[in-house]
Amino acid sequence: SHDIRLAVIPGDGIGSEVVAEGLKVLDAVGLKVESTTYDLGAARYHRTGETLPDATLAELREYDAILLGAVGDPSVPPGVLERELLLRLRFELDHYVNLRPVKLFPGVATPLGEARPEDVDMIVVREGTEGPYAGAGGVMRRGTPQEIATQESLNTAFGVERVVRYAFDRAAARPRKKLTLVHKTNVLTYAGDLWARIVDRVSAEYPEVTTDYCHVDAASMFFVTQPRRFDVVVTDNLFGDILTDLGAAIAGGIGLAASGNVNPARPGSQSWAPSMFEPVHGSAPDIAGQGKADPTATILSVAMMLDHLGLPKEAARIEQAVADDLVERRTAGAGRGTREIGHDITERVTG
Ligand code: NAD
Ligand code: IPM
Ligand code: MN
Repeated sequence: SHDIRLAVIPGDGIGSEVVAEGLKVLDAVGLKVESTTYDLGAARYHRTGETLPDATLAELREYDAILLGAVGDPSVPPGVLERELLLRLRFELDHYVNLRPVKLFPGVATPLGEARPEDVDMIVVREGTEGPYAGAGGVMRRGTPQEIATQESLNTAFGVERVVRYAFDRAAARPRKKLTLVHKTNVLTYAGDLWARIVDRVSAEYPEVTTDYCHVDAASMFFVTQPRRFDVVVTDNLFGDILTDLGAAIAGGIGLAASGNVNPARPGSQSWAPSMFEPVHGSAPDIAGQGKADPTATILSVAMMLDHLGLPKEAARIEQAVADDLVERRTAGAGRGTREIGHDITERVTG
């Protein structure tokens, strides 16, 4: 028997490069891992026309977790792989929590200049199954001057409440116990009102958590000027997507930003499905195949995965190895490629 049965989807571009390093580091923690690699992404699409066959999806449901590199390729029209593969997995496996820590590690250079690790330490809880990502909308008179395109944001009381509750739980477990709803209630009055009322109602059950609200435009400014304002941020799918690339930038760059598409249900319960861990970044066609991509985000996503699977000690070993590597990077780190960084972190985990 194995500790972890893992499905691996390297995907496109730098996906396979960074996933290879993530798997090396995982191997170094000494767990019994049975991993199966799935050929999904642009190459498969060109070869067979398939993005995510139903039978493959059914198989993926049987794993403990999924590790994904990235999907999307310039040779495929935008949205095909993103919607039919990545978003379909998030929706079908009910990954309603898209967990994206924004954490500045000691020694890491940030565009904020003066910022210290205690200034940039938050978790963005991005809703993962609704919002504008749900795909509602359509187009009329396409290609004519009268073309009309609509793209609606789906927000259900059920979907908002469950992610808000998750965010309150996370906030209650952190020292600062602060939750900030980020939305655009001044313009998106229907959806914003739903989010605000639910946060307000649920907050009554968490008297120890300070609740705050910030419009998304102002939040973007405060991420840069006053990141200390934020502890746990809860927000909708699209705002969370945008804010977490910004979050990655303030915490040292997109090559360091980890994420988990989490289904928080109890293992064995009806609604359980494997969670999926992936770097925040994409397939980076501009540097793909050159061995330049930073695998650190994927390695930290592996640590998140272990934490999620109830293996916090192993997760902490990986995080510590990354933290140690990042301190050294400032001085000796320049010039290392994907494999060198992966190798160095693996060595540190092995000890
Ligand atoms: P991107 O994140 O792929 O790249 C943005 C910039 O960051 C590029 O300059 C890239 O070289 C750099 N970068 C990204 N990851 C890096 C790493 N690990 N190390 C060093 N530099 C890194 O975003 P994009 O260019 O907007 O999108 C490219 C493709 O990826 C698109 O098809 C998009 O749909 C897809 N995408 C997929 C995911 C995902 O699978 N989760 C996420 C984002 C984008
Ligand atoms: C991300 C990506 C995806 C998203 C795309 C590729 C569908 O940008 O994981 O952040 O928008 O969620
Ligand atoms: Mn994104």
